Amino acid sequence: MNLQIFSDYEALSEHAAQFVMNYVRQKPNATICVASGETPMLTFKKIVEKAQPHDFDEVTFVALDEWVGISPDNPGSCRAYIEPYLTLPLNIPAERVSYFDALSADLEAECARVNDLIAAKGGLDIIMVGIGLNGHLGLNEPGTSFDTYAHVSELEPITASVGQKYFTNETTLSQGITVGLKHFLEAKVAIVLANGSRKKDIIGRVINEPVSEALPASLLKIHANGHLWVDEAAGV
Ligand code: PGA
Repeated sequence: MNLQIFSDYEALSEHAAQFVMNYVRQKPNATICVASGETPMLTFKKIVEKAQPHDFDEVTFVALDEWVGISPDNPGSCRAYIEPYLTLPLNIPAERVSYFDALSADLEAECARVNDLIAAKGGLDIIMVGIGLNGHLGLNEPGTSFDTYAHVSELEPITASVGQKYFTNETTLSQGITVGLKHFLEAKVAIVLANGSRKKDIIGRVINEPVSEALPASLLKIHANGHLWVDEAAGV
């Protein structure tokens, strides 16, 4: 695992955005899985600022996860944290971006659709995500097998409670639909970003504890190209 500590959120986001730009300029048809949440927001802004015409003409984006039962129109949805800030400003057409339909009557079919898409692309090039206070990646909660592709997950109480920060009204969150941990392990590059002091404890655990399914983000240590990029407030 490559651990890098940046002076602040700005420097962390600059590095992450420049990494994505360099990657897509080398591999224009890259497939990139991106996360919602507060962590990647400045990275998205910087990618949009850096993008030149045609940089993203062949790139496919796959959104990492969604809250089951939440409409894409809900400002707290995962989609609402990605689409207006990344895929719309980059003019990515619908056929090159995938969001989970968390209102689908057949969530298993939704998982199969995303699994098939990623497989058809030859796997993910980059998966770049934040980290939950419990060490989750996407909505892969502690205890999730490293051997799973997209699936529906049962949320831990801490995820349901921390998730309230995205919603204006109290919202029942009990399940997620998410890209799986095997997708992380099979991605050419797996990146976890963390900033701010509230992430310090979990980053310390990722660094110091052994690899275990009890700590999903620990999979970075067995990834051939796993990166943990944090700011000083989250670093140890
Ligand atoms: P955050 O969420 O980026 O809003 O901190 C990360 C997560 O819970 O996975």
